[in-house]
Formats: sequence, C-alpha cells, structure tokens
Amino acid sequence: MKIFAFCASNNSESINKKLLEESCRNFQNHEVKFKVMNDFDLPIFSQDLERDNHTYPQAAQTFLDLTADNDAIVIATPEHNSSIPAAFKNIVDWCSRSPNLNGEKIFRNKPVLLLSTSPGGRGGSTNLKHLETIMPWWGADIRFSLSIPSFFEHFDQSEASFDKETKEKVQGVSTQFLDSLQN
Ligand SMILES: Cc1cc2nc3c(=O)[nH]c(=O)nc-3n(C[C@H](O)[C@H](O)[C@H](O)COP(=O)(O)O)c2cc1C
Repeated sequence: MKIFAFCASNNSESINKKLLEESCRNFQNHEVKFKVMNDFDLPIFSQDLERDNHTYPQAAQTFLDLTADNDAIVIATPEHNSSIPAAFKNIVDWCSRSPNLNGEKIFRNKPVLLLSTSPGGRGGSTNLKHLETIMPWWGADIRFSLSIPSFFEHFDQSEASFDKETKEKVQGVSTQFLDSLQN
C-alpha cells in the first residue's frame, strides 16, 4: 500500500506530528509519504490572486498529486477555535480550484484515517466530528477517526514516547484502517 501521511499543523513543535509518527510506526511494511503543512508554501487563497497569477501554485498541485498517487491517506490535525486550522482549510481551498481536477474531488474517494490530539480534555474532537461531516464533500472516504485528549499526560517528553495505553489505541485504529484497505 502507498500511504500519504499528512500533518495539518504548521507548528514546528506539533503534537499532532508526534501522533502521526506514532500511527505510521504501524505502516512499516508499506510505502509512506510523510508531509507537514510547512511543506506546502501557499498564500491565503483569494480570487484576486487566482486572476492575477496566471499559473496555479505548485504546492497545491503537489498536494493533489499526493492524494492521487497514494492508496490511502492519514491526516493528523489540530483543532483551532473548535474548528479546522486556517492553513488546512487554505490548502483545501487552493486544491478545490485546480484546473487539473477534471471533475474529481480533492481526496479522490480515497480511504482516510483522521487523528487529532490537543493538550485539553476534548482532544480536538469537535473538529474531528466537523471533518467527518464535511470531508466526504471533498471526496474523502473517512474510515476511522481517533482523538487523544490531554496530550501531555500521555506523552513522555524526555523519552519522546507515548504511554502504553495511547500506543495501543493508536496501533488499534491504524491496524483496523490497514485491514479495511486490504479487505
Ligand atoms: C489559534 C489556536 C486556537 C486553538 N483552539 C483550540 C481548540 O479549539 N481546541 C483545542 O483542543 N485546542 C485548541 N488550541 C490548542 C491546540 O490544541 C494546541 O496549540 C496544539 O499544540 C495544536 O496542535 P499542534 O501542536 O499539532 O499544532 C488552539 C491553539 C491555537 C494556536
């Protein structure tokens, strides 16, 4: 399987990136393309920019190529003000305007695993529920989602490691996701 693993945070110390890395440990026999938001350098979308720039941004095209060229997608996303981080929505807005989509949707009906963590007790679950509702409109086949609340209670920074309970939760959902791809 070819898996596109995307961390939708532009925080260089992202806790969601750590969660995504933990999930990816379960995909070792597969080909994983691991990307973070800062790999995609895009201005805030505007129709003015679209009119003035006569070329489509390469970063948005690269994101679309990654959704097209992989069999499945794993996304770990922060929650900002109970919703989608602006940078994540921005890349979706740019991708939705691609001249090369040819009627396809951004996530190409690919199976998606959604992950989120936060320092607080809700673990980004408001945003996850919202994404579960709207991402099918972007062509995502959401198979599973997992929220890990209270990140700093479950991640030992000196060991750079999650506790056993969290590792098991992440392993459980990641292997369920893999199984769902292979059946
Ligand atoms: C602008 C902003 C809004 C936030 N809003 C929420 C929120 O609604 N819910 C939540 O659980 N955490 C919220 N947080 C805290 C984030 O969970 C925390 O910053 C976390 O580190 C973000 O994940 P990341 O490190 O992967 O970027 C917010 C943080 C920022 C910067």
